[in-house]
Amino acid sequence: MEKLSKREQSATLVESYVNIFQCPICGSSMYVAELKSIKCSKNHSFDLARQGYLNLLITPTKTKYDKQLFESRKYLMGEHSFFEPVISKIYEFIETYTNQNKLTILDTGSGDGSHLAKIRKLLVDAGKDVNGVGIDIAKEGILVAAKYYPKLVWCVADLANTPFRDKSFHVILNILSPSNYQEFNRILHDDGILIKVVPRSDYLKEVRTFFYNDSEKQLYSNDDIIRHFKERTQLLHQETVKYMVTLNKDAIKALVMMTPLTWGIDENKIDQFLRKGSAKITVDVDILIGSKV
Ligand SMILES: C[S@@+](CC[C@H](N)C(=O)[O-])C[C@H]1O[C@@H](n2cnc3c(N)ncnc32)[C@H](O)[C@@H]1O
Ligand SMILES: [Zn+2]
Repeated sequence: MEKLSKREQSATLVESYVNIFQCPICGSSMYVAELKSIKCSKNHSFDLARQGYLNLLITPTKTKYDKQLFESRKYLMGEHSFFEPVISKIYEFIETYTNQNKLTILDTGSGDGSHLAKIRKLLVDAGKDVNGVGIDIAKEGILVAAKYYPKLVWCVADLANTPFRDKSFHVILNILSPSNYQEFNRILHDDGILIKVVPRSDYLKEVRTFFYNDSEKQLYSNDDIIRHFKERTQLLHQETVKYMVTLNKDAIKALVMMTPLTWGIDENKIDQFLRKGSAKITVDVDILIGSKV
């Protein structure tokens, strides 16, 4: 048998759970046509890219994030285990707060896709059947995700106006990304959970201190975000995860490239940071678990 192309492989995967999709233009149901595109009953058509992702944005959006930023995130999150303790916690929470054996999970603002891929693997290794979908408004992020993680469906889409039918997901992940609670509520199963990860004041504090000293960019509070989460969902659990990671030279470079914190900073100052042989960096986040109100 001839080997399927990357596009055809993704089309086959999309086909196996095409019932969660709805047309971003007219809202009607969709089907996969000739392993090339996804179409609705009114014939609105969206091509699967040869790299194996779907573009379901109606208006193309240019973002500030480029390919290098997402490749750097992939290196740090995917290979360097920068987020491992957070990922393990999320996995535990999914095991605790869901009771299905077959889970459909959406990562909103999935970036380079590493988090969703790791969480899926932990669940699959524990015997769960997982349908995973990642969406991001930045095509550059979805390109990286589709390149490294072909077992998941990747879509360029807006989390404020998603191409999914009501009550499609058992778990919605929202990691260091903006939220739209109305939309999350619409596409979440009645007994589904929303897991949001928000940075706390010490997140990447060594980077802030080095580049900003005492200036106001250093100060950060997540109070408003948490208050908003509690107003819009039924809070089931909140947990702080804080740890330090020792980064080698390559990982320090990836860190500098993946964070907007270093945008607009003087080259010399960046070089100074990159000259470090190793660095201890703090990860400090809150994980919030909510259900529908
Ligand atoms: C700080 S990054 C976090 C990425 C990833 N979740 C992680 O933790 O590495 C925020 C992400 O949200 C995405 N994003 C921002 N607005 C969005 C929207 N309206 N719809 C979908 N994604 C969005 C950005 O493109 C970016 O990839
Ligand atoms: Zn349509």
